[in-house]
Amino acid sequence: MSADVNAIRAAARLLEAGQLVGIPTETVYGLAADAGNPDAVAAIFAAKGRPSNHPVIVHVARDADLSRWASEVPEEAQRLIAAFWPGPLTLILPRAASVPSAVTGGQDSVGLRCPSHPVAQALLKEFRQGQGGLAAPSANRFGRVSPTTAQHVIDEFGAPGAGPLAAVLDGGQSDVGIESTIVDLTRLSTRGPVLLRPGRIGAAQIEQVLGRALGAPDTAAPRVSGSLDAHYAPRTPVALVPSAALADVVRRLRHKEKRVALMTWSDAAAVMPADPQGYAHALYVRLRVMDAQGADLIVVEQPPEDDAWQGVNDRLRRAAFDSAGVLDRLLG
Ligand code: TXA
Ligand code: MG
Repeated sequence: MSADVNAIRAAARLLEAGQLVGIPTETVYGLAADAGNPDAVAAIFAAKGRPSNHPVIVHVARDADLSRWASEVPEEAQRLIAAFWPGPLTLILPRAASVPSAVTGGQDSVGLRCPSHPVAQALLKEFRQGQGGLAAPSANRFGRVSPTTAQHVIDEFGAPGAGPLAAVLDGGQSDVGIESTIVDLTRLSTRGPVLLRPGRIGAAQIEQVLGRALGAPDTAAPRVSGSLDAHYAPRTPVALVPSAALADVVRRLRHKEKRVALMTWSDAAAVMPADPQGYAHALYVRLRVMDAQGADLIVVEQPPEDDAWQGVNDRLRRAAFDSAGVLDRLLG
């Protein structure tokens, strides 16, 4: 069932009334609320079990007036917007005074993104006549794998009406499959633009548009909850293993009578695509499927390390944050 005009209108009215709605975007599904309504935003944090000092991204319509959200839209931001919006890029900008602090996690910055998914765009146009903003983190419980289908959202929060969700709009499986690239533009004069989270839009593409290099996050960078180590993790432990060691690790695990769910991309039995965009598209669906198999361990074959795989490798490293420890325990 795909969201039609009536479903989108109904969702806009629910959001205007302060309710929570699951929405499709091209990256992952979001848990959306009116960004101008602090009580509605607080309900997102309660539903997710997310610490209240973590900021959420504000999603805006195409051609929205950004001055409602950002006190300043530097030239660098304008260039990135012209190149990549609508699309999977979030910009961190200095906040406008009127943005509820529930949205910014008490920080003086705000994250803005204009999603390209047609259902998200239609909803943003309908919601407050295109002049509002929707606060939407990924629609998963805190620390868990992000949802890429409407069913995943229901798996996380229950059916609409039975839990915190008033509705879920179905927009099919998210095309990109991993969360948006995040670039911090709040400290241009001191640190330059900083890549906070890699994604489908790669660092090299952004650097080309800006004509300068992106910095890496430092301790003073705005907080990004996706940068916590144990983020994006299934319940089953995950180990990331280089291709060359794979056969041996799996043999030793089976020798110990461990049940192994195997996620390879390079061999004949591969369940994952061998290209980075196809891999990202399938990643969270596959992790959820493997998590449901009741295995002792999900063994993931390390993908290539080059630039195009940066977003995928970032998520895999976090899912497999205790790779070495897990293998030690199961093989010890
Ligand atoms: O692709 C995406 O970005 C998805 C879809 C739904 O749009 N959203 C998403 O939201 O991934 P979430 O909340 O799961 O991750 C957003 C990240 C968080 O790590 C948050 O800390 C960071 O963006 N963020 C949001 N506002 C920020 C701000 N003002 N300063 C620094 N980081 C911010
Ligand atoms: Mg998230």
